[in-house]
Amino acid sequence: MKTTHDTVVILDFGAINSQAAAKIVRSLNVYCEVLPCTASAERIAALSPKALILQRGAACGDATLGRTPAADPAAFGVPVLDLNGLPCDAATIEPFLLAQCALRQDWTTDAFIADAIAGIRETVGDRNVLLAMSGGVDSSVCAVLVHRAVGEQLTCVFVDHGLMRKDEPEEVCRVFRDGFGIALRHINAEARFLGKLAGVTDPERKRMIIGEEFIRVFEEEARAAGEPDFLVQGTIYPDIIESGWDGGKPVKAHHNVGGLPKNIDFKGLVEPIKYLFKDEVRQVALALGIPAAIAMRQPFPGPGLGVRCIGELTKEKLDILREVDAIFRQAIVDNRLEEQASQYFAVLTGNRSVGVSDDARTYAYTVALRAVRTSDFMTARFVKIPMDILEAVSERITANVPQVNRVVYDITSKPPATIEWE
Ligand code: XMP
Repeated sequence: MKTTHDTVVILDFGAINSQAAAKIVRSLNVYCEVLPCTASAERIAALSPKALILQRGAACGDATLGRTPAADPAAFGVPVLDLNGLPCDAATIEPFLLAQCALRQDWTTDAFIADAIAGIRETVGDRNVLLAMSGGVDSSVCAVLVHRAVGEQLTCVFVDHGLMRKDEPEEVCRVFRDGFGIALRHINAEARFLGKLAGVTDPERKRMIIGEEFIRVFEEEARAAGEPDFLVQGTIYPDIIESGWDGGKPVKAHHNVGGLPKNIDFKGLVEPIKYLFKDEVRQVALALGIPAAIAMRQPFPGPGLGVRCIGELTKEKLDILREVDAIFRQAIVDNRLEEQASQYFAVLTGNRSVGVSDDARTYAYTVALRAVRTSDFMTARFVKIPMDILEAVSERITANVPQVNRVVYDITSKPPATIEWE
């Protein structure tokens, strides 16, 4: 990113956590970027770094080092901290940046917001911008930043695929249209999505259909909005770092609802948060006045409840799931367990079983509750929710949702399970 702030370049030599050093540098309000160790000298020099940090991994050896520009750190004429054999922590990095390099600590949330707004104005000028609002923190922050930058030139399209959680669509409209005054079009496409998904049980087919249909609806809305010149993307920094480091084959397709429309020729992309980590996006969200319920919202998969309702998707099953999920999430909040759980949700299993209610036999759904703690979503541990809380949630669910007569808690970590059930 072109910036007036002092910049640190972190060269990554395959560290297990390639974001670790960057997060420490950023926490000191110093701007940094992470580049792969194979980055060319020109690419490094283009950032005009004031310091270099070499971040190592067990894969790494002198041979790798020898093939990189970092083999001759003196070529850049700036101080170099080689973390080889040193702990990658604040105690190691802070004295280097502040005492040795005397870098300015001016990369603050407010400075980011001011820079981002100025950058968007410069890029967009007097042209129009389109944004796909999902209700998640990334698209919310993008919407508010772009709206602050170019006001009515922004149109937000909220494609409601009918797979959102309870009351979520209403909340998105209330906060962004009524609260921030953003031109937000709420497209209720529930019937259209459920029509396409009728009879489909395979999770990857569901993902594919939801992703493709989303793009189709979005393209129609883009045309209705006069085909704006720019499209906003909520790309964040881990997406960029991880795509550059080419990992293994994913277990799930992770079709992101909000992929790029193929049939609309946008003049350009606006990616206001592409250099931010997730926790920085949340800080910016709070600073912009986005309510904490959205700013701190747990990740929600693009295909929504579509991958939490096992088997065929019907409105009846999704409505049951929405009620159960809302009860569980409220219990997590009421019992202050949010800090412990990175993601927590209910799953409507495809299973029905025999139960008894008011002396009568029932044959109703089994729901599963899942809460996991993770830092990278690649591995995760299930959260040990106290039994009395689980008992109270189970009673509340079966008392309020008659279509459910059995509640189970998922005590599997990832691996061997994944976080989502589909
Ligand atoms: P898994 O189930 O693979 O999930 O352990 C890891 C993380 O990815 C999210 N997830 C998705 N996100 N589209 C998304 O945008 C998807 O298709 C998708 N599938 C899983 C999941 O919620 C968790 O945070």
